Amino acid sequence: PSPSVVYSFDSPNELTEKLADFIVKAQTEAVSKKGRFTVALSGGSLPKQLNKLIDNPAVKWDRWQVFFADERCVPLDHDDSNYNLCRKELFSKVPIPEQNIHPIDVSLLDDLEELADAYEKALINEFAQKDSARFPVFDLILLGIGPDGHTCSLFPDHALLTEEDRWVAYIDDSPKPPPRRITLTFPVLNHSSRVVFVAAGESKAEILSTILDNPEAGLPASRVKPSHPGQVYWYVDNAASAKVKYQ
Ligand code: 6PG
Repeated sequence: PSPSVVYSFDSPNELTEKLADFIVKAQTEAVSKKGRFTVALSGGSLPKQLNKLIDNPAVKWDRWQVFFADERCVPLDHDDSNYNLCRKELFSKVPIPEQNIHPIDVSLLDDLEELADAYEKALINEFAQKDSARFPVFDLILLGIGPDGHTCSLFPDHALLTEEDRWVAYIDDSPKPPPRRITLTFPVLNHSSRVVFVAAGESKAEILSTILDNPEAGLPASRVKPSHPGQVYWYVDNAASAKVKYQ
């Protein structure tokens, strides 16, 4: 894997502008190659940080196929739902066709294993047969980082950190509530064309320096290393990168 590329900006506003430029460029490249753009979104502050895509005439919303990096096991209209957050901050404000959005819908199945399998099937449907493609290759996966270094619902020291086979998995012991969650796995993150971590503010400074300067600590975010030609990018503000040494 190539080393991460870190872009640090003076202000959160500049960060969101440059992030939008990056996403548009990735979209344009993907659409010109294969007519569609596959992206996975996260919750937290990420959906809000996509606001510079709204009203941007270069975004071809009808070409987007939107999946979720992880989801809390709550109804889709719940305040804790990542889908709901994305709907409020983005989908409701842009002309993206409903059928291009692929939520992880807990109302469909009670059993978490079945729910993870069903989402894996949705991915197989989009990314061809599992036999022909060992893992899906997303054009872009957008991630946040938690104060403990978690990303998606992949938490430090969790058994899922060593998952090698499944595309989608569940946990029922998340240290951060709610405990029941569905998440993409490391093999999926590590086959993506691009993974972008987005982090802003002083509260991220300590964990960013641990992730970037001390990868041998093995925090989940440090384990995201897509195989060639995949690339990890960090879009952060100067407050978040203040303690990072290697830049
Ligand atoms: C969760 C959160 C989490 C989030 C990070 C970053 O489900 O635990 O959604 O994964 O992405 O904690 O959060 P912020 O983007 O709000 O800083």
